[in-house]
Amino acid sequence: MSGKILVMGAMEDVELNLLKEKLENQTQRTEGKYHFYEGNIYDKQVVLVNTQIGSINATAATTLAIKHYDPRLIIIQGIAGSHSEEVHSKDIVIANEIIQINSFVIPNATREELPYDLEDFTLQEPSTIPQIKTNEVLVSYASQISYPHGKIHIGRIGSGDVWNKHKKAIKLLHQKYHTLCEDMESYAIGKIASNYQIPLIGIRAISNNELLEEKYDRNVGKYSQEFVLDYIKIIPQ
Ligand code: 5AD
Repeated sequence: MSGKILVMGAMEDVELNLLKEKLENQTQRTEGKYHFYEGNIYDKQVVLVNTQIGSINATAATTLAIKHYDPRLIIIQGIAGSHSEEVHSKDIVIANEIIQINSFVIPNATREELPYDLEDFTLQEPSTIPQIKTNEVLVSYASQISYPHGKIHIGRIGSGDVWNKHKKAIKLLHQKYHTLCEDMESYAIGKIASNYQIPLIGIRAISNNELLEEKYDRNVGKYSQEFVLDYIKIIPQ
């Protein structure tokens, strides 16, 4: 199964910095706002893709990377906010599924009724929401890694151009969609990867848990990268 491995990261300074240091024989490409670093980690061919933040950027960067590098697999990684009291800051979430969380139905309301309550945002039924399955074999490799900074959870990641801080909103998403955490790029990257039938895995370190008031710390990006380094080491050549 030789070929290039794409490793995605939205924020270069906290989600790709460590991986860039480990990348040997580096060459760099820039297209638009997107940066690509090609080289070797543990003798495997790796391309680090700096997607920038959000689903539109992630879509563009992923498409460009697939066209240019023809990867054998894609690793989505970086930081994410928890959707569960069981998933703490610094824990790792491995995505077996990715569901889009910015599909709302906002019902009719007269001007006088505004501002509306959270209940008025009817979450779409999970069966009608776009979702992506990651690759089972790739997910199974992740459970071989020992992680010293917290727990490893395997489950569903919610993803969209949204940052939920309200506890009620987060609980609603968790109850309806069974999401363990949320980020802004996984769905977009996953959708493009699946359109091109490229095997996919998602690895996220938790940067904040609003339910438990564990404050946002973007520096947990290093834990995601450390996990990815171990992951690259153990997967077959
Ligand atoms: N909600 C949404 N995105 C988050 N990110 C980290 N925590 C959250 C959260 N609670 C990630 C996104 C984006 C960057 C701002 O951090 O994926 O790239």
